[in-house]
Amino acid sequence: MTDAATPSIGIHDLALATSHHSLDLESLADHHGIDPAKFTVGIGQHVMSVLAADEDIVTMAADATARIIARNGTDGIRTLLFATESGIDQSKSAGVYVHSLVGLPPTVRVVELKQACYSATAALQFAVGLIARDPSQKVLVVASDVARYDLGSSGESTQGAAAAAMLVQANPALLAVENPAGVYTEDVMDFWRPNYRSTALVDGKGSIKAYLNAIGGAWQDYADQGGEPFESFASICYHQPFTKMATKAHRHLAVLNGQNPTPVEVAAYLEDTMRYNRLIGNSYTASVYVALASLLDHADDLTGARVGLASYGSGSVAEFFGGVVQPGYRDHLRREEHTAMIDTRVPLDHTAYEVLHKTTLPEDGREYRTTAERAGSFRFVGLNEHRRLYERG
Ligand code: CAA
Repeated sequence: MTDAATPSIGIHDLALATSHHSLDLESLADHHGIDPAKFTVGIGQHVMSVLAADEDIVTMAADATARIIARNGTDGIRTLLFATESGIDQSKSAGVYVHSLVGLPPTVRVVELKQACYSATAALQFAVGLIARDPSQKVLVVASDVARYDLGSSGESTQGAAAAAMLVQANPALLAVENPAGVYTEDVMDFWRPNYRSTALVDGKGSIKAYLNAIGGAWQDYADQGGEPFESFASICYHQPFTKMATKAHRHLAVLNGQNPTPVEVAAYLEDTMRYNRLIGNSYTASVYVALASLLDHADDLTGARVGLASYGSGSVAEFFGGVVQPGYRDHLRREEHTAMIDTRVPLDHTAYEVLHKTTLPEDGREYRTTAERAGSFRFVGLNEHRRLYERG
């Protein structure tokens, strides 16, 4: 349902970025003496992105945002919303570093949003609201995260890293966001990361139940708000902590809607949404938009089709909403760029991966320099007097 008085508002451009390195999950399985099929089949992941020493959420976000600006310019951009749960500062928004690195004008408000893997969806809805008030304005929504669990923990195989930058505006080229949205919030301790930890704590099995329960609740609210029928969605992009989770979530919503699809039918329905995520791993806030990019980049012509977005952030908040794929959208995709970005990552052996995982930054304010590894345009150079230093390539 869209109000005829307002223009369509949604995603005009969508660019992804990921890390310099990757780790093959078969090698992780070998290292732990686990059957690789547990990872490739059981959780549906093949490779995960691993940050180089000179990368972080800012460098990935700057990479993705710079490509949006190179194509669209900065005219009309009045807001940058930075969504992350891998915050680098308790006070300063990571988005302000990105604002500076990509050369945005000072007449842009910047703020960081957090609610686990959900906050990019909140940012998108806030952007739609701002543009509904003034359709001449554009909003950059930038989601960037690194998923980190302890070495040897059951979450280790579900790590990853990526950023998704979106230009949100009136009369978008890719996806018009529909009303209503269904939302669901419940206080659950399924996954969290206290301020003093660099890796997340998780109740693995509990988190799967919490995700399914919240997505079901968001769907129910969507239906209660007068949403479109389940059958009207050509595809649904789910938050993908691992791709098998999307298949569990889809089956859950299908059953709630009186359907009983086979595993093969579910996998076929979701396949195009999962191609990037199974090679990148969990990217928390970015994940559902990585799934959207994967769908648009790979599916046969979706012009006019309704696509669902099912967003989940532990703790927990979920949201379900629909969008309509716009005529001519294929001329605005970045499939070659995204494929090259994934294919040109430098694979790590297990020893190098563990060294990177164990690397910590000094906390005493002394001068510190990272090793130069990154191939992208932006580097995290190091620290000086507790300040993070970045450079543009
Ligand atoms: N061949 C094929 N399949 C195999 C297999 C083999 N040899 N061995 C095991 N499997 C299957 C299992 O049957 C299981 O499948 P089902 O779930 O369909 O039954 C799957 O592989 C995983 O096996 P386990 O359940 O034994 O795995 P685990 O307990 O060691 O870890 C996990 C799985 C709990 C997801 C863990 O990776 C984890 O804690 N991950 C982090 C938390 C997470 O991602 N939660 C998701 C919901 S929360 C969320 O979405 C927010 C977020 O981003 C974190």
